[in-house]
Amino acid sequence: MPLDPHSFMATMEKRVCLTSEDKTLLKENADWGKEIASEMADRFYTYLGNDPEMDGIMKAKEGRMHRLRETFIQWFYEMFTGMDNWGDGYADRRWRIGLVHVQIGIGPQHVVPAMATVINAVGQRLKVDGKNEALRDALSRICMIDLAFIEQAYVEVSSAAVLQETGWSEGLFRRLIATGAGSM
Ligand code: HEM
Repeated sequence: MPLDPHSFMATMEKRVCLTSEDKTLLKENADWGKEIASEMADRFYTYLGNDPEMDGIMKAKEGRMHRLRETFIQWFYEMFTGMDNWGDGYADRRWRIGLVHVQIGIGPQHVVPAMATVINAVGQRLKVDGKNEALRDALSRICMIDLAFIEQAYVEVSSAAVLQETGWSEGLFRRLIATGAGSM
């Protein structure tokens, strides 16, 4: 069964405990988010640029760096606005971002530390600007939801590809994974 981004979003909201108070706080600070987005993009791409493998991916295509900077700024701001109050539009966009990364071959080993860098950089700026802990918590939660989308896309696409190629049932596939993990 392909993943339904809308119900995945609802599940993640509950699991991560993103509350309506968090959403209100994020929206109230949307202008601040827009203001610092460019600095966050700089921090993010400096971090990626310091890793030879990720630097190589970023420079592999003409104009990629420029596009990435723009899309990162947009992505960052959307965490504060929630687009459609963190509804279906938000979930569809996050799912698409996940798929783009899977297509390029960017996996958990790249994305998890990259998201940690974002959280760390925002945390430093929150302190400088005297923002409270509650905003930091709300941002950490929404970052975790966005991260979960990218990670889950990886799992979903990989499983779907194997099932399609082999014609195996999901049950057989799960049993093979469990056996494989057990023998590692
Ligand atoms: C916190 C984790 C990350 C976030 C939030 C993020 C955000 C984004 C967004 C919003 C897009 C645009 C997707 C679209 O076109 O619809 C994108 C694309 C892309 N990202 Fe990431 N990214 C993350 C991690 C990474 C990492 C670790 C790399 C490794 C180099 C990377 C490299 C790329 C590349 C190469 C593209 C496609 C650019 C293009 O050719 O248009 N991203 N990312």
